[in-house]
Amino acid sequence: MSIYAHITGWGTAIPEKILTNEEISTMVDTNPEWIVERTGIRTRHIAAPEDTSATLGAAASLKALEMANVPPSAVDLVITATSSPAYVFPATASLIQDSIGATNAGAFDLSAACTGFIFALNMATQLIRSGQIKTAVVVGAETLSRYVDWTDRGTCILFGDGAGAFVLQASSVQGGVISSVMRSDGSGGDLLSVPASGSAMPATAKTIEQGMHFIKMNGREVFRFATRVMARASEEAIEKAEWRLDQVEIIIPHQANKRIIEAAARGLKLPIEKFAINVDKYGNTSTASIPIAAVEMVENGRLKKNDKTVLVGFGAGLTWGAVTVIWKEPFPADKSVNIDFYQFLARIRSFLLRVARRIEGLIWGRKAPK
Ligand code: ACO
Repeated sequence: MSIYAHITGWGTAIPEKILTNEEISTMVDTNPEWIVERTGIRTRHIAAPEDTSATLGAAASLKALEMANVPPSAVDLVITATSSPAYVFPATASLIQDSIGATNAGAFDLSAACTGFIFALNMATQLIRSGQIKTAVVVGAETLSRYVDWTDRGTCILFGDGAGAFVLQASSVQGGVISSVMRSDGSGGDLLSVPASGSAMPATAKTIEQGMHFIKMNGREVFRFATRVMARASEEAIEKAEWRLDQVEIIIPHQANKRIIEAAARGLKLPIEKFAINVDKYGNTSTASIPIAAVEMVENGRLKKNDKTVLVGFGAGLTWGAVTVIWKEPFPADKSVNIDFYQFLARIRSFLLRVARRIEGLIWGRKAPK
């Protein structure tokens, strides 16, 4: 019997603060019309100081679990795709796992820049389809505003903060993630990077002074690469699924630049109406952009039960990829799960575990051999 990985819950976390093109125009030498014409972006959301990719990711995950009616304790795996992790380590996924109370789950981060959500969705799908796990939470979470050089007009106009999460569950009913394409070309790594603070260039006073801990991008080259790969990856995924292009109801692309999406539409010879576009509101939220767009398409009725859809992304690495999905609804449940209660329990559990570790440390600290 074949096992399928269905998307049965979804949620987003969008920071309240909105940064407009008009506001950015007071910070760098640009103007709102240029930004809209060259990118399609009008506003982006900026995380509150107390928020991180982990807090936004946890908020989106809880909404997704509530919709799927899945208690956090039933989650087997949390994968977080992020380009702006809360820390180098621990993994942002582990922070989310603790915060949502997924006490029986493994957790890891996946780094593939903006393509990360596609790769993470595929990883979770393969683990479900091979029978190793039953339930996964796949998160795309970003606070890229912390990595943006707010004096660089070439990049600061582009990025925004936010998170999106899907719950994936095993089922014998055909549907969910059907096929995938995953690609990388590391020879283009220097086109889009954060040069400092990794092991190649540890953070020093000098790297900070030179702004090497900020995003550096060759926009023109990334643009050319993106327009090449979006259509091709979509076609490959559709072919692998043994679908025809005309069966696809809607394509949900990574939201980096409206002109890149328009180029993909031309490449596929599809009307632009076939594409989800919300880059105007959120800017480029990297790994979060595809789940945020998908949730918005469900909410406005453009993505419905049994629709065939393609999720397609590209990003630093260089990386690119696509998945085909037959969209379903949450599985029917006997009773509804009270996520607030589970989260309350998770907080107490986490607190008690920290206290217990402290006490254990004190006892063992005294007993430890010299
Ligand atoms: N306002 C006004 N002028 C600007 C601005 C700005 N904000 N930014 C650049 N310019 C100027 C440039 O200096 C240049 O001037 P010059 O000709 O005198 O040198 C001119 O505008 C044209 O510059 P280009 O870089 O050719 O502008 P382009 O039309 O390519 O638009 C942009 C720039 C929007 C960055 C575009 O290249 C783009 O979207 N690239 C893709 C970026 C992307 O998708 N990145 C994310 C990848 S996903 C991930 O992994 C995070």
